Amino acid sequence: MCGIIGYIGKRNAIPVLIHGLKRLEYRGYDSAGISFLKDSKIGVRRCSGKIKDLETLIKKEKLKSTIGIGHTRWATHGRPSEENAHPHRADGIVVVHNGIIENYFELREGLKKRGHVFTSETDTEVICHLILRYSKSGYSLEDATREALKHLEGAYAIGVMNEAEPDKILAVKKDSPLVVGIGDGEFFIASDIPAFLKYTRDAMILENGEMAIITRNGVTVHDVRKNETVNKKAIQITWSPAMAEKGGFRHFMLKEIFEQPRAISDTIRGRFSLEKGEVNLKEFSLTESQLKKFNKVFLVACGTSWHAALVGKYMIEDMVRIPCEVDIASEFRYRKPIIPEHCLMIVITQSGETADTLAAQREARRLGARVMTICNVVGSTSAREADGIFYTHSGPEIGVASTKAFTTQLTALYLFSIALAKAKGTRNLKERQGLLNELLQLPEKVEKALYCHDAVKRMAKKYYDVRDFLYLGRGINYPIALEGALKLKEISYIHAEGYPAGEMKHGPIALIDNNMPVLALAPDDTVLEKILSNMEEVKSRGGKLIAVTVEGNTKVNSRTPDIIFMPGTNYYLTPIIFSIPLHLLAYHMAVLRKCNVDQPRNLAKSVTVE
Ligand code: M6R
Repeated sequence: MCGIIGYIGKRNAIPVLIHGLKRLEYRGYDSAGISFLKDSKIGVRRCSGKIKDLETLIKKEKLKSTIGIGHTRWATHGRPSEENAHPHRADGIVVVHNGIIENYFELREGLKKRGHVFTSETDTEVICHLILRYSKSGYSLEDATREALKHLEGAYAIGVMNEAEPDKILAVKKDSPLVVGIGDGEFFIASDIPAFLKYTRDAMILENGEMAIITRNGVTVHDVRKNETVNKKAIQITWSPAMAEKGGFRHFMLKEIFEQPRAISDTIRGRFSLEKGEVNLKEFSLTESQLKKFNKVFLVACGTSWHAALVGKYMIEDMVRIPCEVDIASEFRYRKPIIPEHCLMIVITQSGETADTLAAQREARRLGARVMTICNVVGSTSAREADGIFYTHSGPEIGVASTKAFTTQLTALYLFSIALAKAKGTRNLKERQGLLNELLQLPEKVEKALYCHDAVKRMAKKYYDVRDFLYLGRGINYPIALEGALKLKEISYIHAEGYPAGEMKHGPIALIDNNMPVLALAPDDTVLEKILSNMEEVKSRGGKLIAVTVEGNTKVNSRTPDIIFMPGTNYYLTPIIFSIPLHLLAYHMAVLRKCNVDQPRNLAKSVTVE
């Protein structure tokens, strides 16, 4: 996830680009850059760091231009650095890109053989070189870009300029957002509307396969696949600038919850072959024979990431049949852990900067474990210090409460378990294909799961003024009960506990009376009957029950009228689907209690101290 901006018109483009990038900074903030046309030459200015660093860099130059493109980066390929920052350039062609080019490696090798020289580690640079290759054969910018696109696999929203065609910007979209702003004699391109909302409310939302050719005289849109002109109408944006920054959502947390289908798609894209039933191991820096040798796995993390680790234990032990130990990072580092030979430590961290997690990671390496990190921030300390990395591509998570980072961590663990199961021979080809096929359907199922929004809002209204809340789960969904409780505590300040439902009778059931709401996770699995009995126990003591179950399961109907139905999936992926109503419930209860959802009291997004 990155932010792109472009401007052509009568104003000085430089402050317009900088303003747009600031509005897009929530999409990525590890490096930034702009390119512009001055004295008929393309200029590029880039730096690692935030937009304010870019501003400082260009301040003294007093640059002026009436056309330019800019980018704020969230690294996916190549660490955050000046060389990897966009715009990328090949001779007179400059490109800004948001998305992932899956086949960039093969393309780059092919272009190198033809004499193209690459200066970055990014996937984006192949786009400039491909366009350059066709422009050198006499194609116009739009034709050269159209030819270049035929080689690309993956997702992209790109902005392109060519020194030889000084009054033109191209914008193309496939699976990454891109909008065109229409002003009075001036035009914009951007990943998101807030980038130009200060200047115009008229916008064209590009669809997949559409290319906007923008000159000083206007915008023409082509469907590059059908090779025909599209008669596209501008729409009027009615959002306020503050709403627009959050994509029309009231809070980043809600936006991030609704981004999950996209975040999961990005995390799985290009990572496996369904036909071979195989997960791509390149990034883990592990060969299959190394994987085969592991006979013990440690999973270490903090907070919500620790809940992902707990789910990971169920996935790995069930699929691979090797023992796993799960630790809270701050406990691991002080408990003198015993690390046997052939031991893998999986560290899970959204930020890659959590102090306790880093300390545990270092301790495990010192004791001889091989460390793999599941991390969302490219180039973070955890990623730099690990032996292998699995990046989740959920994009920047701004809300302090972790949501999309959590479900993409679970997605990563699922893929890793399948890789391990293949290496260990515990799942045959057909079984692995079945597991991967279910994963392919996951983004759509998450989309469907989000339909529960209205039902959850009604339940939030019913319960938002309670003092305590209990969450019950069993097996692989017990960590989801913990996650539901943590989210509620964290953002609504209601006291909440998550319990394995079978433990109720050993103490917590004493808390049940008619003031105590109890949310039970009741998937249609081998422990359904058990959880139904636990629900009866709550009901008979006057507790107020909410059930989360799967569509078609009528067995919960007699226990409570408050039921949230979720789409069915396999055992291992249920935690992803079931966490959605729990995150939404915490969100709406917090909103009704007028809490600061995105920045709850006493908390920070990255806990970089012990
Ligand atoms: O960046 P990390 O994943 O290492 O962060 C770990 C926890 O601090 C984090 O998950 C925290 O518990 C969240 N605020 C929960 O929503």
